[in-house]
Amino acid sequence: MRVITTIKDMQTEIINLKAQSKSIGFVPTMGFLHEGHLTLLKRAREENDIVVLSIFVNPLQFGPTEDFSTYPRDFDRDQSLAECEGVDFLFYPSVEEMYPHSSSVRIIVQERTDVLCGKSRPGHFDGVAAVLTKLFNIVLPTRAYFGKKDAQQVAVIEGLITDFNFPIELIPVDIVREEDGLAKSSRNVNLLPNERRQAAVLFKSLAAAKETIEGGERNPRTIKNLISNMICSETNGEIDYVEIYSYPQLKTLENIDGTCIIAIAVKFSKVRLIDNIILEVGQEIGGVK
Ligand code: PAF
Repeated sequence: MRVITTIKDMQTEIINLKAQSKSIGFVPTMGFLHEGHLTLLKRAREENDIVVLSIFVNPLQFGPTEDFSTYPRDFDRDQSLAECEGVDFLFYPSVEEMYPHSSSVRIIVQERTDVLCGKSRPGHFDGVAAVLTKLFNIVLPTRAYFGKKDAQQVAVIEGLITDFNFPIELIPVDIVREEDGLAKSSRNVNLLPNERRQAAVLFKSLAAAKETIEGGERNPRTIKNLISNMICSETNGEIDYVEIYSYPQLKTLENIDGTCIIAIAVKFSKVRLIDNIILEVGQEIGGVK
């Protein structure tokens, strides 16, 4: 594995590999790799000739009160994990390398951002879109891999790739779960023991929602109530949101139909957990993939 810190070196390597018709699988991250990232790397390894991992804590996507300077970093550990996953190139630029001067062009994401987690993080997805535009132009990936846990991010990236005609296949990768269904996250360690037991109810409530939709229910309010009631009665968590939207457009639905997302966020004493499921709901009663 080669660690590359300059844009010029990364582009030179990639242009060379592209000339040899190699497919490039790209996993962009902010480092401090966890199991979710490793799943993306494994998938990229299976499907491409070359795997590029980027580690860059992107200041543009942090709000003024957010934790850019204290965001966890452990490059040595990340480097060994990347080696174990068979990464070919680890792109690890500095902030000065990525943003040497103030930008003359600004990307504003106009849709899919004013709901779910984006509602409380103004400008966050503009920063994500800006850095990914740069990274896509530097790495020129054939396929780019993102976890479905951040389903809103995947929706925004789908819009970016489509609107700006990046010749990139977006690969959303399924959420990795613990045995009891809890979505894996490095934040789960901040759950108190009783909260950890209760946290399994998040996925249980999503599974119950899916089953109810499979049984023919199409009213979003009924489904949201079902989920909220389960979370309130079976956990001490405080619901931040329970929402159902079309996916990836993230528009409000009168009736549950087509591709839709059920997304939840619940605050426990020291940690806020998110989870979601994406469903294909057919016209016919019970038609759920
Ligand atoms: O999901 C992340 O880690 C970041 O938002 C991303 C996609 C690497 C952009 O900085």
